[in-house]
Amino acid sequence: MDNGWELSAQAWIDSMGERGDWAREHVLDPVMLGRVTAGRFGRALDVGCGEGRFCRMLKAAGVAAIGIDPTHHLLEVARRRDPAGDYRIGRAEQLQFAAADFDLVVSYLTLVDIADFRTAIREMVRVLKPGGSLLIANLTGFTSACATQGWIRDEAGRRLHFPVDRYLDEFAFWLEWEGIRIENWHRPLEAYMAALLESGLHLTFFSEPEPVSGEPSRQEDYRRVPWFVVMEWRRPSIA
Ligand SMILES: C[S@@+](CC[C@H](N)C(=O)[O-])C[C@H]1O[C@@H](n2cnc3c(N)ncnc32)[C@H](O)[C@@H]1O
Repeated sequence: MDNGWELSAQAWIDSMGERGDWAREHVLDPVMLGRVTAGRFGRALDVGCGEGRFCRMLKAAGVAAIGIDPTHHLLEVARRRDPAGDYRIGRAEQLQFAAADFDLVVSYLTLVDIADFRTAIREMVRVLKPGGSLLIANLTGFTSACATQGWIRDEAGRRLHFPVDRYLDEFAFWLEWEGIRIENWHRPLEAYMAALLESGLHLTFFSEPEPVSGEPSRQEDYRRVPWFVVMEWRRPSIA
């Protein structure tokens, strides 16, 4: 199934650079890393690791990480950038790991890329140890609902508001920017919450993170329309 990632891989790498894009650097990384350092995790799996940036950050934080991703070119670059790292071809819907193998499973902006996200979540939970955490960064449903349309602007190009439509539907759409063309999925927040609750997880952290740095005008845009939700879900310990 082609969701555009193989053809978009090089443009994606170019757009990410070493520090990630603006939103990762100024909005998501601080909160994601904060959860990692608070958790004292030993062994982590980064599902949809891309070119491995967050695996390298996990490693720098003292967490041993394995990254999996189905996109060959992204994995080649991950291995080149971190030759001692462990990067494997794989899909979230069928993780090639034993049950209860990891203290931490990370999904950093990957659930919107996965058609069968319910199976993917079940798989991520299966490989988590009891007491372990599933750490998720995802797009907010109110941005993915009209992501292709983007901001409604006035005649001078000023941003008026961000539209929301078909919010309760689940549908795929193609996004294009900077030479990247990928398929993403819109789902209401309820769809993700229901799948996570059905998997028996407990929510231990929830944030719609604000930018903590970066140009003030961009910070303002992200405060008006927050693009991300960060959640940490814990697999209950066996009594
Ligand atoms: C938006 S990128 C995020 C990459 C990385 N986590 C980051 O934050 O930079 C989405 C990633 O999901 C991967 N992906 C697409 N379908 C997947 C699937 N079924 N299972 C796991 N990863 C998938 C893509 O190859 C891509 O690397």
